Amino acid sequence: TWSNVPAGPPDPILGVTEAFLRDKDPRKINLGVGAYRDENGKPYVLTSVKKAEESLTADKLDKEYLPIAGLPSFTQAAAKLAYGADHQLVQTGSIAVVQSISGTGALRIGGAFLARFYPHSKTIYLPVPSWGNHTPIFRDSGLEVKGYRYFDKSTVGLDFAGMKEDLKNMPEKSIVLLHACAHNPTGVDPTPEQWIEISDIIREKGHFPFFDMAYQGFASGSTVRDAFAVRHFVAAGHEIALSQSFAKNMGLYGERVGAFSLVAADPEQKARIESQLKIVIRPMYSNPPLHGARIAGTILNRPELYAEWEQEVKGMADRIISMRDRLHDNLVRLQTPGEWEHIKRQIGMFSFTGLTQPQTKVLAEKAHIYMTADGRISMAGLNGGNIDYFSESVSKAVKG
Ligand code: LMR
Repeated sequence: TWSNVPAGPPDPILGVTEAFLRDKDPRKINLGVGAYRDENGKPYVLTSVKKAEESLTADKLDKEYLPIAGLPSFTQAAAKLAYGADHQLVQTGSIAVVQSISGTGALRIGGAFLARFYPHSKTIYLPVPSWGNHTPIFRDSGLEVKGYRYFDKSTVGLDFAGMKEDLKNMPEKSIVLLHACAHNPTGVDPTPEQWIEISDIIREKGHFPFFDMAYQGFASGSTVRDAFAVRHFVAAGHEIALSQSFAKNMGLYGERVGAFSLVAADPEQKARIESQLKIVIRPMYSNPPLHGARIAGTILNRPELYAEWEQEVKGMADRIISMRDRLHDNLVRLQTPGEWEHIKRQIGMFSFTGLTQPQTKVLAEKAHIYMTADGRISMAGLNGGNIDYFSESVSKAVKG
């Protein structure tokens, strides 16, 4: 029956973990998937998460189904975190919001909703490059996927002129995907001034901005600063779509905690949108998982846990920044050919090193160091115990 099924390629990101797990060398390092590791290279469960879980256990809660749209105390708190607790739209109840299976699920709900109801276009424009899963998510949602210029290889920075030109040349009212902060895979974000210009162009062209915010707090260490783009766009009058993930900033990866929201004109429109979001969700997975949303909701709603969580996010962001400094200094000290300032300039979980595909292959085969083929490394996989070995191996690979 299935003789027609061809073998599919491994996933460009999660396939790296599979290769890493097969490698038996004790020096091996996995810098593929964007998952935080502590200074000892171990997965890190946040103290605020542990405390929230203890409190939930003590409450002896049941395991009933959540509503289709998820846990209201969590989704409301997620909207406040993104848009600002005292924002008028939050206060007046004009934000349609549903719980999602982390960021991927939020993007998929949003993609399906736009494919069904966005009246002006069925095409979404992604930055080039973008997270590897964006294209399949939106394609499978029923949208056509195109790209706009974003990354400039020659400066290892933002191609701002190219980006603006492409935004201006797209058909009016196109859907534009924007990474709210800590762009994945490049680690290159627009400055606040550049965001303001981008917002102006998008408004003039009547485009529809869809924000993917998977790293709020992870870029700068501050959840407020990292929400700048989202909040500026909303203040400028854009009706945005927003995907949120709590995988990275709360370390809730496998719990699959996220939210999808849409800014509506008023509470009545919001209610109509939410009714349709539920119709998108119900045939896909019925209703979302309970445990992770309870954890995130507890942290977001309890001031003392919230304060502790904010400190922990900052701690993770700071450790990554310190690894950037060390990696940069090591590569320079080892007289590695090329310019390495971008490692310090880039922000968030990833660094787009500029390593070529043959170099990444050599690193995997000779040094047991794994990263995605585009030369992206998850900075969080580096620590005091492996950074020197990593730097030396990279330096050797670049020298050839
Ligand atoms: C990544 O880019 O590594 C993360 O967003 C994890 C994933 O699911 O790809």
